[in-house]
Amino acid sequence: MSLTVTAINGLRGELTMPGDKSISHRALMLGAIADGETHIDNFLNTGDCLSTAAVLRALGVRIDGVGEEVVVVHGAGLNGLRAAESVLDAGNSATTARLMTGLLAGQSFSSSITGDESLRSRPMDRVVAPLTAMGAQISGPSGDDKLPLTITGSALQGIKYDTPVASAQIKSALLLAGLYAAGRTTVREPYPSRDHTERMLEVMGAAVAAEGGGVTVTGGTTLTGTAISVPGDISSAAFFIVAAILTASSRLVIRQVGMNSGRIGLLDVLKTMGAPITYDAMTIKNKEPRADIIVTSGPLRATTVSAETVPRLVDEIPILAVAATQAIGQTSIKGAAELRVKESDRLSVITANLRSMGAKIRETADGLVIKGPTPLHGAAVKSLGDHRMAMAMIVAGVIAAGETVIDNEACIDISFPGFERMLTGAAV
Ligand code: S3P
Repeated sequence: MSLTVTAINGLRGELTMPGDKSISHRALMLGAIADGETHIDNFLNTGDCLSTAAVLRALGVRIDGVGEEVVVVHGAGLNGLRAAESVLDAGNSATTARLMTGLLAGQSFSSSITGDESLRSRPMDRVVAPLTAMGAQISGPSGDDKLPLTITGSALQGIKYDTPVASAQIKSALLLAGLYAAGRTTVREPYPSRDHTERMLEVMGAAVAAEGGGVTVTGGTTLTGTAISVPGDISSAAFFIVAAILTASSRLVIRQVGMNSGRIGLLDVLKTMGAPITYDAMTIKNKEPRADIIVTSGPLRATTVSAETVPRLVDEIPILAVAATQAIGQTSIKGAAELRVKESDRLSVITANLRSMGAKIRETADGLVIKGPTPLHGAAVKSLGDHRMAMAMIVAGVIAAGETVIDNEACIDISFPGFERMLTGAAV
């Protein structure tokens, strides 16, 4: 199915985003190995998080209320998971595949895990190599860099690991394995990535500490189930924020969006570019900050985004590229090679799509260079089954002259079912 999009004048009103995807995954996983119940309010009931729920259920965890507002995980305890009867399926979700590989490495049983065609093409050695250094045994028919993988439960030893890539998935996989390892497991990253795992581990009572530019977990500490309130997903809000800025008569309030400093790189960069964004009603729940975001229409100036900022907006680069087409001057995004191994090669796909709409954009080995402002015109563009690409191109479509046709828009359901309805509802 394809979707045809035409220009709008602005976005107005108050919106609430679906629950944060990263936090929803972690609430399920940590809840599953905690003692007692974990109640997850505003859980993201969509493809990726449902993959995590299915994987944990296959490992013997009782999870109630999936599809409803509050999900209840009946914690099996640190050593309460049991062997699954069949191959675990992470679907399209790299977070499920990588974090679960870490969680399963130190169990007393073996597991096999796979994913859909897109996920089977994405790198796994980034978690397999350090887990192997901890004593894990992980292998697969296509080597240890690609799913499917078999994880033979093994005794693990804590290590100190300097990850070459700033990635919350690598860091989290090692921290989860570290819960089962003897001694201490320390992960250091070149630049800070989102720290939802660390914060939730702390909330659940694990021995986790930030030290020496890294994070350390001590093996064997038990977790206690708790009530987790999931904030709105900033990575979903991003599309509305950029659409509001780029259209003429916008004033949007987005209620209670997660403001973890490892996630708000886009907001910081847009503000540097001159965007009229303010915050209100800031609170902290479960050690995660959240706020209302107020955004209006406004002109943008070009900027440079460096490697250090990239992990803080890693999922927002396609929509930032759309914003940059309308900014005055040359925007450069550097140190973003990671985008080539996301749900699609996002550097190459966003370049081809925006070029076909008239943008002055080129890709570099590890980034993008965009000259603006350039009026966009409608074109037939490709999502390549990548939810964030599809949403970024819909936003490009609402600022373009004529019709923009986005293929396979159903992939949006992975993170944001109802995206198009919400956008249409707020459009003026
Ligand atoms: C995620 C981390 C990021 C991000 C992904 C979700 C997470 O991946 O792109 O959508 O929940 O930990 P990397 O940490 O591998 O960059």
